[in-house]
Amino acid sequence: MTLSAPCMLVIGRNGQVATALQEMGGMTGRPIVALGRKDIDILSEAAVTEALKAFDPQVIVNTAAYTAVDQAEDDKDAAYALNAEAAGQIARACERLHKPLIHLSTDYVFGTDGAPFREGDPTGPINVYGASKLEGERLVREACEQSLILRTSWVSGAHGRNFIKSMIRLSRQREVLTVVDDQRGRLTFAEDLVKAIFALSDRFVQGQAMPEDGLLHVSNEGEAVWADVAEFAMHQLKLAGEKYATIQRVSSLEFGVKAPRPADSRLNIERFSSLFGEGLPQWEARLTSLWPAIMKAVSVEDNC
Ligand SMILES: NC(=O)c1ccc[n+]([C@@H]2O[C@H](COP(=O)([O-])OP(=O)(O)OC[C@H]3O[C@@H](n4cnc5c(N)ncnc54)[C@H](OP(=O)(O)O)[C@@H]3O)[C@@H](O)[C@H]2O)c1
Repeated sequence: MTLSAPCMLVIGRNGQVATALQEMGGMTGRPIVALGRKDIDILSEAAVTEALKAFDPQVIVNTAAYTAVDQAEDDKDAAYALNAEAAGQIARACERLHKPLIHLSTDYVFGTDGAPFREGDPTGPINVYGASKLEGERLVREACEQSLILRTSWVSGAHGRNFIKSMIRLSRQREVLTVVDDQRGRLTFAEDLVKAIFALSDRFVQGQAMPEDGLLHVSNEGEAVWADVAEFAMHQLKLAGEKYATIQRVSSLEFGVKAPRPADSRLNIERFSSLFGEGLPQWEARLTSLWPAIMKAVSVEDNC
């Protein structure tokens, strides 16, 4: 490994987590190369192997995924290609070159009962997205010895597309927003998730102990239903003197979502807290501190 070699290769470039990794890497002097869909064919093990040889990273982080949960119901092949097949190809390339892999997965690998879910709990996805991600987990674990499956949930933040930014934009157009109040889970801010990813990649590079079963759950502390998150966002707009909307709570059935989602997909995050001695901050406090950055991102994107 040469001194100028990047320490982290990120698969995915413009997504929420990939962008946050590059931003935080830049701020902390951590060399990162990020490859998006235009840069690499992740369905080809040979192409991934070539990239690993060219950049010689110390750790690979796979953030690439088909994340459109409703669309996946009608686009099953594309969801499986990206979430399962490509994940397997990346894992095989990592194994071939003895590189550690952090692979991101989701709370939606779990089903209807048992939240908050521990890492070893039985899975049972109830939508195509969750099933395709679960198959990706299986292929990664099968192919790559030095792999960590990092399951996270409800990713939000300043970058990319997410629920909170959608609520802000919709509140400018409408007086009332209908939001489901029968899906419980845990928000994860990409800005905090990337700190966890850096800490985990350091553990890999330094040869420190990792979870033996190769699984770890991470999210911010606290829990909510989507309507709580929307109301909190509207409260922030109100405090800032901006236009805001009234949140009307509805059931998933009334809202008419295409893909079924677990009523409670909270991840148990105790293993993460034990590993690092502390968890990620409470979501309400974190949303408050990130609010200016989120508003700035919405404004910059809308003026582009
Ligand atoms: N979003 C959530 O709420 C959530 C919840 C739980 C788990 N996760 C997991 O967390 C990870 C990151 O999610 P995210 O929110 O950052 O996703 P995202 O914002 O939807 O971004 C998806 C990423 O996938 C990349 N990608 C898509 N098709 C690709 C292709 N053919 N080749 C290479 N890259 C491709 C995109 O590449 P470009 O950069 O080129 O656009 C983008 O960087 C995923 O594994 C996801 O399943 C997300």
